[in-house]
Amino acid sequence: MSKLTNATKDSMTETGMSRPTSGDELQQAAIQTFDLCKSFGDRQVVDHLNLKIYPGELYALLGDNGAGKTTTIGMLTTLLKPTSGTFSICGFDGRKQPEKAKGMFGIVSQDIAIYQELTAYENLKFIADLHGIKSGIANERIKDLLQRAGLADRAHDRAGVFSGGMQRKLTIAGALLHSPRVLFMDEPTVGLDPASRRQIWESLKEFRAMGVTILLTTHYLEEAELLADRIGVFREGRLVAEGTIEELRHQIRGIRGIAVRLTEWHDSERIEKMMAEIRTLFGEANFDHLRNTINLSQPGDGELVNTLQRVLAWLSDNKISFSRFATSEPTLEEVFLAISTDVNQGGAV
Ligand SMILES: Nc1ncnc2c1ncn2[C@@H]1O[C@H](COP(=O)(O)OP(=O)(O)OP(=O)(O)O)[C@@H](O)[C@H]1O
Ligand SMILES: [Mg+2]
Repeated sequence: MSKLTNATKDSMTETGMSRPTSGDELQQAAIQTFDLCKSFGDRQVVDHLNLKIYPGELYALLGDNGAGKTTTIGMLTTLLKPTSGTFSICGFDGRKQPEKAKGMFGIVSQDIAIYQELTAYENLKFIADLHGIKSGIANERIKDLLQRAGLADRAHDRAGVFSGGMQRKLTIAGALLHSPRVLFMDEPTVGLDPASRRQIWESLKEFRAMGVTILLTTHYLEEAELLADRIGVFREGRLVAEGTIEELRHQIRGIRGIAVRLTEWHDSERIEKMMAEIRTLFGEANFDHLRNTINLSQPGDGELVNTLQRVLAWLSDNKISFSRFATSEPTLEEVFLAISTDVNQGGAV
């Protein structure tokens, strides 16, 4: 069984869908938090967070401004002291063994952390020296990381003249110098143009292929959807939903749809009669007069295909011709909004 499948199973447990087998329970998490809390004064910013991220996973923490993402990363990277609760990185207790835990991870913070006046090579050499990496090994790694970052031919240019995307890539290379098993990335693509974002995404995929566990925070739904094995939706310091993109989609009923465009235009009486019958037979549906299209909401994938076949058959039987049909899945944006609304209304997710 793959790691991802294990992780998925576990997340399903947390959302009450199934229980993992004992083998899954034994698998050591790369990052784990136990009722982790952080308050600033009487304001609770992280509220009993229980995360479990498996080795090799890319996990995206998705949340609004002020949700507590950076604060969480601050605690996991030992920069901020938790108010209560604890966490482990590759099995090392973050509060009792912070030095050992620190050796396991690299961090790319929300700000670009490079020296503008040093060259790309010098920046990385400086970080290698901080980690006490021997010169010969450091040189090899710097060469390799610059190559991977697409900066090999710019190694001796001043970092200050690099574009935002190149600077971000250099920052990421710096975070990987000591070959960490875990990489924390706080909004790695914020402020970058689409081409640079894509380049960073490619690098992230590559790191994951190398077996690095990645926890990234993002506001970009597209980013989480594209990259993450699992997504945690964070709201006001609490994890309000967690799972693969597919699992999150499954939690949302009624926003999968079927659309059937009719060939001929019918009068409104005929349409009303037709829609009444369709609602009786297939559930929630409306008619888009502008597009001459029937829209149906369906709760599940299985039902989606089944309903589509039945709707098309029903239309044919009733001699109502159609020119095209389509099914749609909710975007992560819709999932996120639906989850947020649910939480606002006090519903459990
Ligand atoms: N040092 C601090 N002192 C007081 N309040 C703080 C401190 N750091 C963060 N906060 C508060 O904690 C809350 C969460 O902030 P945090 O930076 O973790 O959010 P975030 O999810 O990273 O947001 P963003 O997406 O904007 O980066 C905010 O209300 C913020 O004002
Ligand atoms: Mg932040």
